[in-house]
Amino acid sequence: MATVVDLRSDTVTQPTPAMRAAMAAAPLGDDVFGSDPSVNALQDKIAGLLGFEAALFVPTGTQSNLCAILSHCGRGDEYIVGQQQHCYRWEGGGAAVFGSVQPQPLDHAADGTLPLAQVEAAIKPDDAHFARTRLLALENTLGGKLLPFDYVQAATALAKAKGLQRHLDGARLFNAATAQAAHAGGDVRAEARRIAQCFDSVSVCFSKGLGAPIGSALCGSKEFIARAHRIRKMAGGGMRQAGLLAAAASHALDHHVDRLADDHALAQRLATGLAGIDGLVVEAPHTNIVFVDLTGATQARSAELIAHLNAQGILATGLYRLRFVTHLDVDEAGVDRAIAAMRGFFSA
Ligand SMILES: Cc1ncc(COP(=O)(O)O)c(C=O)c1O
Repeated sequence: MATVVDLRSDTVTQPTPAMRAAMAAAPLGDDVFGSDPSVNALQDKIAGLLGFEAALFVPTGTQSNLCAILSHCGRGDEYIVGQQQHCYRWEGGGAAVFGSVQPQPLDHAADGTLPLAQVEAAIKPDDAHFARTRLLALENTLGGKLLPFDYVQAATALAKAKGLQRHLDGARLFNAATAQAAHAGGDVRAEARRIAQCFDSVSVCFSKGLGAPIGSALCGSKEFIARAHRIRKMAGGGMRQAGLLAAAASHALDHHVDRLADDHALAQRLATGLAGIDGLVVEAPHTNIVFVDLTGATQARSAELIAHLNAQGILATGLYRLRFVTHLDVDEAGVDRAIAAMRGFFSA
């Protein structure tokens, strides 16, 4: 049986031999005492790269967003967020559960943005009837879509003018920067910094397209990170010899940023290969995620299609829409097998 082509997510990657070697060689200490040199080096590296005073290494993107929201907002405050954003929809309502912070979700426009007029209208007056609107949270990429940079600038400028803090869930910030650099002809790291600098805090995941096994970082001012540190402790995220993981993240930053363009090219190859199959609508990918909608009579066959793909060694998810994600452990041959398996299903 041929190897499995796992397109469920970019979180499924195995650490490369070079990453494992970097982990094995990492100097370690107890990070709860602040004395793990590899964690400290990673925090300095990501903060410096994105132009922030400080950063905090956390086990997951979920904990990073939770620490961010609870550092920006207190009990009875609220944050404005999109319906499809991970920190509202996919994180168990953590900010409400643990922090009594109320979300104010808004619908996204087709390009993933939150229309500025709706953001402005959602900001509550300072009145005892209302929760205090404290924060605008955006996500970039959102479901693989790059938010237009002029929109990011305008939305964060509006929030600032209205006295709100600005948080970016940049789980895939470097994918966004890669797509933005491809359009603007810039450097990926410079674009990542340009996006990040529109915000007061940014969460970045190392365990997605960057290919580390575990870990995210939350970046912000020293004072903000000190608050987030306390919340991380309460959330059980104080880790001891975490340098083992930080070394993997650091290796990913050094070696896996420039190759994200390869993942985007593979997503494009997949989308092109699937286009034209009757019964499918393929959304043109901006980055490494390809969404496919089943239309007409095929709509009811989603579970059957996933089972057919699985039987051919192709893994994909279909919770709402059929989704394929390219990453470090997928190559052209794997993508071509996925295309062939899809074609096989629809021509049978
Ligand atoms: C945009 C976004 N933010 C946050 C997360 C949460 O990351 P984690 O799974 O590490 O908690 C994810 C996970 O897929 C994500 O896609």
